[in-house]
Amino acid sequence: MTKPRVVVTGTLRDAGLDPLRARYEVDVLGDAPARDHVLDRLPGASAIVSRTSVPIDGDVLDAAGDALVVVAQFGVGYENIDLAAARRRGVRVTNTPGVLSAATAELAVTLMLAAARRVAEGDAIVRAGKWDAHGADTFLGRNLVGATVGLVGFGRIGQTVARLLCGFDVRIVYSDVADVETDLPAQRLDLDELLAVSDFVSLHVAFTEDARHLINARTLALMKPGSVLVNTSRGAVVDTQALIEALREGRPAAAGLDVFEGEPNVPAELRALPNTVLLPHVGSATESTRDAMARLVADNVIAVLDGGEPLTPVV
Ligand code: DGY
Repeated sequence: MTKPRVVVTGTLRDAGLDPLRARYEVDVLGDAPARDHVLDRLPGASAIVSRTSVPIDGDVLDAAGDALVVVAQFGVGYENIDLAAARRRGVRVTNTPGVLSAATAELAVTLMLAAARRVAEGDAIVRAGKWDAHGADTFLGRNLVGATVGLVGFGRIGQTVARLLCGFDVRIVYSDVADVETDLPAQRLDLDELLAVSDFVSLHVAFTEDARHLINARTLALMKPGSVLVNTSRGAVVDTQALIEALREGRPAAAGLDVFEGEPNVPAELRALPNTVLLPHVGSATESTRDAMARLVADNVIAVLDGGEPLTPVV
């Protein structure tokens, strides 16, 4: 009997590949596969392992054909997948929530501290051999300890950030479109109020069209002078041009960004701003997290191909 085929539209760590290879014929397309290459390799696939950089639309689902039963996303966000098209074809969609919350929350805190303490700017000066003075006013930054931190989106990752920050003696405020049950010492505010009182604003919203440019010229103008903006959610939550203008005016004073509109392209004007710390979308990039994500992807594929319920279904 021929084994079911699983097409990986990217790469996957062994923690996920090994259990898949033990059961199925696995076709790994490599990082950033061209769309034509994806379409060519899909016919007959029972499962697609996807990631946000590869669109999974109706044509892709059709290219796989009737054998296709599951699209298992490597990641918690799934804006690249046409969920309605999957539903219409009876194809299950899964993601990897939970296992990456700690790593992403750690990176948000890293960016808060790095942007507030001008870590990238200082590092560049030392490397360039331009460190020449120890003045009382040299390289002043801002304290996180004692600050008000505004968390925009208070789901798994936002709440993990709040937990990590407990030792920093901060006041935590949050906004969310959904009702949130929490035992954390955090006050709910509407977005405009949150922006007006926060020294640090960190974005943790799931990306939907409603969240596009939630942070724009109007909302940026509400932020405190001297404040810090951190984005580890999705680039399109922030209007990039408006942020560039705002950073030039110092409101916010600094930004720590792991995600960008149109990534991996980052506008030269943003790259030129010294008051930014810019990372290449590495929120979940720790070895143990990527292993856990890969394993959860494999478990979801196996559950569905065995005729059962996926562990973490989206559709
Ligand atoms: C996620 O899990 O959604 C990460 O941002 C990777 O895209």
